[in-house]
Amino acid sequence: MNLDKVIDARYSVRKFKSDEIPDDLIKKLINVARLAPTARNTQSQKIYIINSNDLKDKLKKEQAFKQDFVYTAPSILICAVDPTPYPDPEERGKKFAIIDCTISSTFLVLKATELGLGTCYVGVIDENKIKQVLDIPDKYLIPFVIPIGYPDIKQGERKRKPLEEFYEKI
Ligand SMILES: Cc1cc2nc3c(=O)[nH]c(=O)nc-3n(C[C@H](O)[C@H](O)[C@H](O)COP(=O)(O)O)c2cc1C
Repeated sequence: MNLDKVIDARYSVRKFKSDEIPDDLIKKLINVARLAPTARNTQSQKIYIINSNDLKDKLKKEQAFKQDFVYTAPSILICAVDPTPYPDPEERGKKFAIIDCTISSTFLVLKATELGLGTCYVGVIDENKIKQVLDIPDKYLIPFVIPIGYPDIKQGERKRKPLEEFYEKI
């Protein structure tokens, strides 16, 4: 698939088949995330991969994610980033950390689409509960998580603003 086709084929998947994702595919996803640019090449992101039903149950018990479909994905990727190595970690560093996490996750999401996998960014999460259940160090920010698996739903109509509303020549 060329890049245009991958971008066209990506959509938010909220219903997954139960098939597990082979480890070699997960490694390909992590690798493209690793290749993404980061501010000052800080590379402070960390992706925690949740496969076990036991952990999913614990996260559900704590209501770490508000939407039940997240727990039904074969894997849940916790997209985390440590802002402390950036200059000014409380302000600009925090902003850059979240940008870096987002860019690398987007590489991952597009690669997943190319490999036939479905993903959904999920930002309605309880960051503290996730850290508590998974024992993730407090210094990490978790802007969103990405449930991932083989889609059990077809792509619907894409609702987007007209192109003309998306830019302005000034
Ligand atoms: C930062 C971010 C946070 C999101 N959070 C959620 C969420 O908590 N739950 C959800 O179901 N979808 C979430 N989405 C998915 C969006 O609703 C979705 O991308 C949008 O409606 C466009 O649909 P599409 O991805 O199918 O093109 C989020 C997307 C982004 C980029």
